[in-house]
Amino acid sequence: MIIDTDLRSRFLEGMSRAATFVAVATTDGEAGRYGVTISSLTSVSADGDHPSLLACIHHLSPVAPAILRNRAFCANLLQEDQQQLSDLFAGRAGAGEHAARFERADWIAGELGQPMLTGATAAFECRVATSVLWETHHIIVGRVMGVKLSESPAALLYGQRAYRRAVHLPAPE
Ligand SMILES: Cc1cc2nc3c(=O)[nH]c(=O)nc-3n(C[C@H](O)[C@H](O)[C@H](O)COP(=O)(O)O)c2cc1C
Repeated sequence: MIIDTDLRSRFLEGMSRAATFVAVATTDGEAGRYGVTISSLTSVSADGDHPSLLACIHHLSPVAPAILRNRAFCANLLQEDQQQLSDLFAGRAGAGEHAARFERADWIAGELGQPMLTGATAAFECRVATSVLWETHHIIVGRVMGVKLSESPAALLYGQRAYRRAVHLPAPE
């Protein structure tokens, strides 16, 4: 495979300018309990049989095969004061083992048994609808079976390689 390193670094720089919200994809079931921080959570449709969303998870993360075996996951959209939780589930807080991540976070099991993180601004409990392994990432589409909303609607953002919060812009003159 020919890798154009300049194209790759320009792609990474370009995408770093797209501020995204931060979520933790969690899963529990016969494959075990796992969770990882993702910025790839995307709404797909509100108008199918059920609403649907997708997440892209690296093929070397144990979370993707666990979600595919458990056939369910929860997408926990983090609230703007939950940077520590993001770092914890990104393996940046010295909690490489996935079981240890759940010992250091407050969570409850949702109706499908999937871990819902306390304080998340929204938690989408999903059954796996379909998935594709594209190059290095599993693109996993979830059928949303339930949504839990917190009192605080402000989501944590990540852009230009740092955590951010959304600010309201005044209307143009
Ligand atoms: C803000 C942020 C967003 C991330 N988004 C993704 C993502 O969308 N998909 C992904 O596979 N990893 C993403 N990562 C990296 C993972 O959280 C994690 O660090 C890496 O996959 C190692 O996974 P493991 O600890 O499960 O082995 C992100 C990390 C951070 C801090």
